[in-house]
Amino acid sequence: MVANPKILFPAAAGPADSAARAAHPHTSEKLLEVDRVNLEYRTGERIVRATHQVSFDVYGGDRFVLLGPSGCGKSTLLKAVGGFIEPTSGSISLDGQTVRGPGPDRIVVFQEFDQLPPWKTVLQNVAFPLRVAKKLSRAEANERALHYLDKVGLGAFAKAYPHTLSGGMKQRVAIARALAMQPRVLLMDEPFAALDALTRRKMQEELLRLWEEVNFTLLFVTHSIEEALIVGNRILLLSPHPGRVRAELNSHQYTQDSTGQSDFQRTAERIHHLLFDETESVQ
Ligand SMILES: Nc1ncnc2c1ncn2[C@@H]1O[C@H](COP(=O)(O)OP(=O)(O)OP(=O)(O)O)[C@@H](O)[C@H]1O
Ligand SMILES: [Mg+2]
Repeated sequence: MVANPKILFPAAAGPADSAARAAHPHTSEKLLEVDRVNLEYRTGERIVRATHQVSFDVYGGDRFVLLGPSGCGKSTLLKAVGGFIEPTSGSISLDGQTVRGPGPDRIVVFQEFDQLPPWKTVLQNVAFPLRVAKKLSRAEANERALHYLDKVGLGAFAKAYPHTLSGGMKQRVAIARALAMQPRVLLMDEPFAALDALTRRKMQEELLRLWEEVNFTLLFVTHSIEEALIVGNRILLLSPHPGRVRAELNSHQYTQDSTGQSDFQRTAERIHHLLFDETESVQ
């Protein structure tokens, strides 16, 4: 549920909307429910409130984006969904079960290129968590790892070490490693933010292609309005620190080909105002 979404855009509609469903055959049952979640950091005497009463639901097959300015609590929210931080109030549940810690049903891809142990080959990087968390044999783990490396176009680099790869290739390995775990929800925290603009565009395109092929559910964090519109089918706008839900909108109609179009640009402008101009009407 969305407690106070101040919805919506003219083209937008709730997740139950039949047109949205038609455009998204994958969209089905509710997987993740974030309900009035407050998140805080306690450092000595100080308490930093990161989010305030944030609610949203992610459905199967969604590409759900958390969008908001720096410091609004996006990463903190993702960590809470990952089970690394416990809400001070409110609840997070996956498949109806309260999230109480990290688990292989929620895998995170981070922005940093150093998320791959450098002493393992690409194949070992992808296969290792499968052996540990999924208890696969070496042969099974390698086979599944190779399958997903092929999906991200890196089958030929299975024996390479991470330091020999470009930033974009390292992110592809991280994505293959995450998808190989077949999580209920794939969590991505600005995974392309450290890449150059061209590579970033290519990675966005590849992520969408993978989503079509592999059919996963994505919770994606960004502070780029354009990236949110391209990657997401639904976007939650968060206000500046502490993050509150400002609005929720559908964005499944946009692709990379939309960026030059006036409708895309108008929507991006409205989002900008909603994020940064407190006086903007959300009606
Ligand atoms: N480990 C921490 N200890 C104390 N405060 C923290 C910690 N991590 C984050 N914060 C604070 O919590 C708030 C939310 O931080 P968070 O990293 O979730 O923001 P964000 O939306 O991901 O920002 P960015 O777009 O810059 O990554 C900020 O005010 C930040 O200073
Ligand atoms: Mg962050």
